[in-house]
Amino acid sequence: MIRIGFYGNASAIAEWESSLATRLPAFEINELLSEAGAASDVALVWAPPPDAFANCNNLRGIIMQGQGVDHMMRDSTVPRDIPLVRLIDPDMANALSHWAILNALDFWRDGAAYRAQEAARDWRSLPQRPATGARVGILGVGAIGTVIARRFAALGFNVRGFARSPKQIDGVDIFVGMDQLADFADNLDIVVSVLPLTPQTTGIMNADFFGRLAPGAFIINGGRGPQVNDDDLLAALDSGRLGGAALDVFAVEPLPDEHPFWTHSKVRVWPHVAAQTNATSAADQVAQAIQRMMDGEEPANRVDWARGY
Ligand code: GLV
Repeated sequence: MIRIGFYGNASAIAEWESSLATRLPAFEINELLSEAGAASDVALVWAPPPDAFANCNNLRGIIMQGQGVDHMMRDSTVPRDIPLVRLIDPDMANALSHWAILNALDFWRDGAAYRAQEAARDWRSLPQRPATGARVGILGVGAIGTVIARRFAALGFNVRGFARSPKQIDGVDIFVGMDQLADFADNLDIVVSVLPLTPQTTGIMNADFFGRLAPGAFIINGGRGPQVNDDDLLAALDSGRLGGAALDVFAVEPLPDEHPFWTHSKVRVWPHVAAQTNATSAADQVAQAIQRMMDGEEPANRVDWARGY
C-alpha cells in the first residue's frame, strides 16, 4: 500500500484519487498534516506550511502540484535529502501560452479601447499596429516558454527568448544570461515572463529594463510577482513609458485590496489562474514519480536546490 500525503486545495483530493486510481497499485491519500498523513511514503503538495514534513519519517520524496518551487526554496524545514519533483505538464504550458497570447493580442489590437468605444456606441477606427514583425520577448524559455515562443512566432511576431543557458528554438533569437539582458530587452514591444523566481530573477523587470523597451511596450507576467518592481512598473505606466501590463502573479497574493494595480486603467489583474493544475493531464507524471520513488529510483523533473528550480 502506497501512502500519499496531500497538502493543497482539499477539494482536489478526490480528483487526484480518481486520476491516480488507474495508474498506481494500491494506494491511499490522506491529509499530510493528519496522523495518517505522518506515515506517508510520498507527499503531493502545494504551498505547505513550515514544518509540514517534520513528522513524516517514511517520506521518500515530495511532488509539487505545480511548477513553481520558490516557496519550497524559502522554507528551510523542507527536507533536502529526498527528491523534490515539479510538474512539467504540457497542458499547463498550453494554458499559459493561451493566456499570454490572449493578453498580448488584446493589447496589440487595442481591445480595451474598442470595448470602451462599444460601450459608448462610438464607431471609430484607431491606427492599427503592424500585423507582422512586432517584437515579443519571452523571459524564460524552458518547457513553458518554448511553447509560448513558438506560438508567437507562428502568429507573425518577431520573437526573442531569454535563457540561463544556451539553447536553440527554430525561429527564435536566444539571449543567454544577465550579460545579454539589455540586448534582449532592446526595443521589445511586448515582454512575457514565465521565469522561475530565483535571486537572479527577482526584480529583473525594473526601471532600467522598462527603459530599454520600445515606447508604450506591454508587460505580461505569468512567472512570479517579485520579478516585477511594482513601483517602477507603476511609474513607467504613469509616465507613458509603458503601454500596459497584464499580471497573473504578485509579490503578495491575494493582491491586497488597497494595491494600486486593482484600479489602474493600464493594468489587467488576473488572480493567479493563467495555468491551473490539471489532475488528469498531470496524472501520468505524478504516478511515474511516485512509482520511481517507491522503487528507490531517480524521478524525472527533480528540483535542483542549488539552481533554485
Ligand atoms: C503556478 O504558478 C505554478 O507554479 O504551477
